Amino acid sequence: CPAPNPPVRTVLLAEPRGFCAGVRRAIAIVEQALERYGPPVYVRKEIVHNHHVVADLRSRGAVFVDSEDEVPEGALCIFSAHGVAPAVRDNAARRSLDVIDATCPLVAKVHQEARRFARDGRTLLLVGHSSHEEVEGTYGEAPDRTVIVETVQDARSIEIDAATPTALLTQTTLSLDETREITDALRDRFPYLAIPPTSDICYASENRQQAVKAIARRADLVLVVGSANSSNSIRMVEVAQAAGARAHLVPDADHLTAAWLDGVTTVGVSAGASAPENLVDDLLAVLAGHGFADIRVERAATENVEFTLPARLNAPAAEGE
Ligand code: F3S
Repeated sequence: CPAPNPPVRTVLLAEPRGFCAGVRRAIAIVEQALERYGPPVYVRKEIVHNHHVVADLRSRGAVFVDSEDEVPEGALCIFSAHGVAPAVRDNAARRSLDVIDATCPLVAKVHQEARRFARDGRTLLLVGHSSHEEVEGTYGEAPDRTVIVETVQDARSIEIDAATPTALLTQTTLSLDETREITDALRDRFPYLAIPPTSDICYASENRQQAVKAIARRADLVLVVGSANSSNSIRMVEVAQAAGARAHLVPDADHLTAAWLDGVTTVGVSAGASAPENLVDDLLAVLAGHGFADIRVERAATENVEFTLPARLNAPAAEGE
């Protein structure tokens, strides 16, 4: 008798996924700077948290440094999408660096709120991961009056008097669901908590989490393409797990473990906001080799956000540039 047909294996491909407007802008800034000014172009920290993006730009002449102190006096220096503390700007100015700022406008918005709330005399409760560069930058706006809140436990136990005028700020890439719990705990404790009119968690994080949650409900396994230091990608893995799927972060297709696919008929695929689409293509090709040939795009939202480049990179190049 004929062999039974192998089961149809399906990929649910989340949409939106991958690059957000802030990441596209930051990468374009480095590319434009390389084109206009030629290498070396110094970039403080990883321009975005993806090792493939960084390696590609490095091969084209970008020099990634940990601190503005490593940039030669007077040289061109790009600040990464995650933003910097005012102290970094001051230091760069002291060293006469020619700065191009690739801070995502949605991170810059949180900095602005931090300055406004601090000016109003409020204590800033900054929800986020203390070791993340974005949080270091936002914290630096008002270090004397900012407290970092990482967990619900922190929210319940920080030693601040309930009558203190406080304000809520969050890292842009957090999980909506987890942050809600922390925010609720803070609201309970602090009656004078000021809250920004729109959430600090950005549209791209929100959309990617919603899309991954939708596929996770119907997939046996979810794979999120992203680097291990990408906050929004890790949150997407957690969101998929919370929705009931097994989920893994895969920096690229080489990191797919074949055993994960045992017994799986539906695999969900998405990518963090800093992960290039060619890495998703590579992963889909490997999955196709395992019989996952039926690809269904599952759209949770439509995005049309674009940010303009800094004026000096937008204008036609001047003579000699
Ligand atoms: Fe900006 Fe959100 Fe992307 S803060 S860099 S749009 S993940």
